[in-house]
Amino acid sequence: VSVKVILWGMGEMAKGMAKMILEKKGLELVGAIAKRKEKQDMDLGTAIGLDRKLGILVECDAAKVLAKTKRAVVLHSTNSFVSSVCGELEQALNAGHDIITIAEEMIYPWASAPEVAQKLDRVAKGSGVSLLGTGINPGFIMDTFVIALTGVCASVDKITVTRINDLGSFGPTVMRTQGIGKSVREFEDGVAAGRIVGHIGFKESISLISSSLGWKLDEIVQSREPIIARSERVTPFIRVPAGKVVGCKHIAEGKMNGRVVIRLEHPQQIRPEVDGVLTGDCIVIQGIPNIRLNINPEVPGSIGTIAIAVNMIPRVFEARPGLVTMADLPLPSAIPDDFAGFFQADKLEGFVD
Ligand SMILES: NC(=O)c1ccc[n+]([C@@H]2O[C@H](COP(=O)([O-])OP(=O)(O)OC[C@H]3O[C@@H](n4cnc5c(N)ncnc54)[C@H](OP(=O)(O)O)[C@@H]3O)[C@@H](O)[C@H]2O)c1
Repeated sequence: VSVKVILWGMGEMAKGMAKMILEKKGLELVGAIAKRKEKQDMDLGTAIGLDRKLGILVECDAAKVLAKTKRAVVLHSTNSFVSSVCGELEQALNAGHDIITIAEEMIYPWASAPEVAQKLDRVAKGSGVSLLGTGINPGFIMDTFVIALTGVCASVDKITVTRINDLGSFGPTVMRTQGIGKSVREFEDGVAAGRIVGHIGFKESISLISSSLGWKLDEIVQSREPIIARSERVTPFIRVPAGKVVGCKHIAEGKMNGRVVIRLEHPQQIRPEVDGVLTGDCIVIQGIPNIRLNINPEVPGSIGTIAIAVNMIPRVFEARPGLVTMADLPLPSAIPDDFAGFFQADKLEGFVD
């Protein structure tokens, strides 16, 4: 028996998820929803760049795709913000499907949109299904993984996480939203105007950590600083001379009783190695005991997001109905071969058409 999977969004992450699912037993792709009309009726194999057809057609009519299957897990990857995705999520929940979304704000939607979070929770419970937000970051490296590490601490005073990564493979949208190629002045104007946003999801990551530890924070403050090139840096999409901005150092701090207790630092830039900067993830917990974990280079964002979204399918399938977080569910793990053994037989009944 296979659990049916619908892809909502046909971008880079969805293509990777589709390819990963095709390599596994116990999961079956049954539908794909796209936005652009050119993709309507395209075979899914072609849409994800394979040289073979899969016999599943990509469709732009979400309602039609969602209605074809009685119960499926929807892997949702269309947008970052709760306000943009809540309608889509509600529609899929109402159609009776579990959802895993990689929308950054959905890893802890209570942080920015508590009323929407409550509504989605209610709708999911009404349909007897579950909704999870996940991803590499937010969703794992700077929150879930950190929470798990505190499990071996008797007490925690402060958490500092730094993720230094390379944006060299990303396209024009990321260059624009990080202010890459701009002068310092243009960068500062862009931040002030909200055009340069840096990382999305810090408020959510900090809220997920603090809620797990039972910390009541006073406030979360964020800053965005330009990273300036010392030497020219070049990618397939952009050439940035020395002196211009090659990235955004985004910092968020959660304060409790006036003291910083969670600090997340994410300097994202193109080709950091050109100026001798090494990439990596570093988690420091000051407490009993003190813990320092270094991962060099950093866990890659694309495959990390694709894998965790697919690997969470059995966890979401088995979860209690409602809106859940990574901290509510059993630990994620890789499922190297067959997913079938991870689904309880009684729950599978509803999945068989
Ligand atoms: N949590 C994390 O760690 C994490 C990691 C990676 C990505 N993300 C987020 O996940 C989202 C997807 O990432 P990506 O790299 O796959 O982006 P992408 O390549 O830009 O793909 C997004 C896709 O969604 C489609 N889409 C947008 N609105 C839609 C709608 N209403 N119905 C159907 N399809 C729709 C777009 O269609 P068109 O091509 O037709 O416009 C596009 O193909 C982004 O918001 C990204 O920031 C989160």
